[in-house]
Amino acid sequence: IDQLLSEGVEGKRVFVRADLNVPLDSGTITDDGRIRAVLPTVKALVAAGARVVVASHLGRPKGAPDAAFSLAPVASRLGELLGSGVVFATDTVGESARAAVAGLIDGQVAVVENLRFNPGETSKDDAERGAFADRLAELADLYVGDGFGAVHRKHASVFDLPARLPHAAGYLIATEVAVLKKLTEDVRRPYVVALGGAKVSDKLAVIDELLGKADRLLIGGGMAYTFLKAQGHEVGISLLQEDQIPAVTEYIARAEKSGVELVLPVDVLVAPEFPDLRTKAPANPTTVAADAIPADQEGLDIGPETRKLYASKLADAATVFWNGPMGVFEHPDYAEGTKAVAQALVDTHGFTVVGGGDSAAAVRTLGFDESAFGHISTGGGASLEYLEGKTLPGLAALED
Ligand code: 3PG
Repeated sequence: IDQLLSEGVEGKRVFVRADLNVPLDSGTITDDGRIRAVLPTVKALVAAGARVVVASHLGRPKGAPDAAFSLAPVASRLGELLGSGVVFATDTVGESARAAVAGLIDGQVAVVENLRFNPGETSKDDAERGAFADRLAELADLYVGDGFGAVHRKHASVFDLPARLPHAAGYLIATEVAVLKKLTEDVRRPYVVALGGAKVSDKLAVIDELLGKADRLLIGGGMAYTFLKAQGHEVGISLLQEDQIPAVTEYIARAEKSGVELVLPVDVLVAPEFPDLRTKAPANPTTVAADAIPADQEGLDIGPETRKLYASKLADAATVFWNGPMGVFEHPDYAEGTKAVAQALVDTHGFTVVGGGDSAAAVRTLGFDESAFGHISTGGGASLEYLEGKTLPGLAALED
């Protein structure tokens, strides 16, 4: 983007593909981290007199307008953060968007409605995606890719549009890539990775890659129960992906052979049912050994011994990557495991990276100071796929 700015963008219409896919609770933004993350790029363009068109997806609507996924609240928050307000278009490439862009003056910002209200955005069909990208291209003279959280998606605004306009990477993408490079090239050791979250299937590819790269792998969250089951333990009514047991069994064996220390929970908090996240009514969990989960109980967080164990395994790390909460942190009775891992990252002298999505939201909503971490990524799936060594469509499209 610096090169683009030095060539002059005054009066030019610049399309900024951001990832403003923020968590919403009945229309209220619960974590605006992704909006704040794109501010440096938007502000630089505004200061340079560009006419800025910001676009993003929000949630997973089904290719048609859906009020529940409107970007309107996001646009007004962006306006507040910019201190200047923004113009909001009620469609993405239709009359409202065209009028909003045509009416922009130099240094003004428009936000167009959710990209995914249009079937062409996410289509698997190249021609359909291309046709939508053509319409997006009519709105702008230049393209800046800055939606790091979406670069793993081969979508029209991420992959096809940059091929149609002179393009550059924004500051957020540049920062994210520079940080993730530190985890893939010449990583400082010990390199410790903490992985949590609900589904082991989402993490298989990254575990596969990390077994050759990390020194220690700590497993928590819902995915831990598939590991415990693969070790022959009963997990009661805990989250379990039976079909992933063979893969997990193979990983456990491979970790042993390759000398990667694979650390699983030694105790867990259990209850007969999933907690109520709305009322946050007390859940009264009990602590049990990880190999003694009662048949009628569900594991919902790592236990106190595991918290201590994981903190000790993180203490001497030179590099840490953490993705995925250790338990149902949205409920106070199950937040301690996630808090303990976040605190261990704060306490270590190593370089720490929090990998997007729920873990980034957890860090902020649990009250941690963001500056105590080396980097909090805005990309969940994107940062994982980067670490898997995959080619990410949204980065490849910006490279030439
Ligand atoms: C994310 O939240 O990881 C990104 O915004 C991508 O969203 P998606 O998984 O719906 O494509």
